[in-house]
Amino acid sequence: MLTVEQLYNKLKNIRVGNPCCQFTEERCKTFLPVIERIEQLKREKNAIILAHNYVPPQILYGVADHTGDSYGLAKKALESDAEVIVFTAVRFMAETAKIVNPGKMVLDPNPDGGCTLADGITAADVKRLREEFPDHTFVCYINTTAEVKANCDVCVTSSNVYTIMERIETDKIYFLPDKLMGENVKNFLRDKGAGKQVEVYDGTCYVHEEYQPESVDQVRLNFPGVRVLVHPECSPGVVGKADYVGSTSGMLDYVRESDNDSFFLLTECGLTGVLESEFPKKQFVGTCTTCRYMKANSLEHILSTLENPASSNIIELDPEIQKNALRCVDKMFSYLKD
Ligand code: 13P
Ligand code: SF4
Repeated sequence: MLTVEQLYNKLKNIRVGNPCCQFTEERCKTFLPVIERIEQLKREKNAIILAHNYVPPQILYGVADHTGDSYGLAKKALESDAEVIVFTAVRFMAETAKIVNPGKMVLDPNPDGGCTLADGITAADVKRLREEFPDHTFVCYINTTAEVKANCDVCVTSSNVYTIMERIETDKIYFLPDKLMGENVKNFLRDKGAGKQVEVYDGTCYVHEEYQPESVDQVRLNFPGVRVLVHPECSPGVVGKADYVGSTSGMLDYVRESDNDSFFLLTECGLTGVLESEFPKKQFVGTCTTCRYMKANSLEHILSTLENPASSNIIELDPEIQKNALRCVDKMFSYLKD
């Protein structure tokens, strides 16, 4: 059983974007009764908890069985033999776990699990676009609802978007819903001389669209030698200044493998917290911004969902949507088999 000391050791170096916001041993003590009850319910119900890198650190280090990016967690969901999967992140990620596990109970404890990308496009939008672009392969970012996935051909995540877009056989692609990621991929394909025609939808992530290239210049000036790690949801101007572009777990791996000792992360704040905890001797410079949807997760919501899930916590999918969304997600896995 996790002790206060163990939890405090994991949380004490985390600043969540502000040097004044620190976890104290006292605060860690208050988490323990909830964590113990969650652990007991996990055993009783044969449940596992999957947690995205952005959720509050007391979840990541208190109760999560697996943490990671959207691709890594989708794979964990697929491989799991637990009867119940509690997916603490945002709704589209929990839905993806259900898409790959139709027979399992998948629970979403987040009362506000939106995402400006997933909420910015509907299945009706995709149907209309398919009529407008009948010869295009429709590629959706994983940050979409199951219904949108069900109407697309291939799903991608931030960890594989460049690889899959390059591997798709057709030369006409419609990419949705992230405009900035789409523009980044177009630049990548152009630099590779891939000669594909890519149309892009007009969605954005409200967190990543805020980062500006000038901030990168400023940080490089103030911290010579700093490595700049950028999420592909950022603008092409920011991506163009990066030392590394990749998913949240890709950034974590980059830091793990790097000899460098300072990093500037242009992504949601939660990842900076994970890195501060995992690599206390390294320096993570600059401020970071939070995603209000990811931060709506809490230990208390996980506990109440495991104890007595409300219907809004239980992911249910229409069988036709389930089947077609699975085809779209399976296509992603098939493109990644070498
Ligand atoms: P990752 O898959 O890279 O973790 O990204 C998910 C996301 O929502 C980024 O904003
Ligand atoms: Fe969606 Fe942006 Fe939040 Fe990621 S950070 S879940 S893309 S709103």
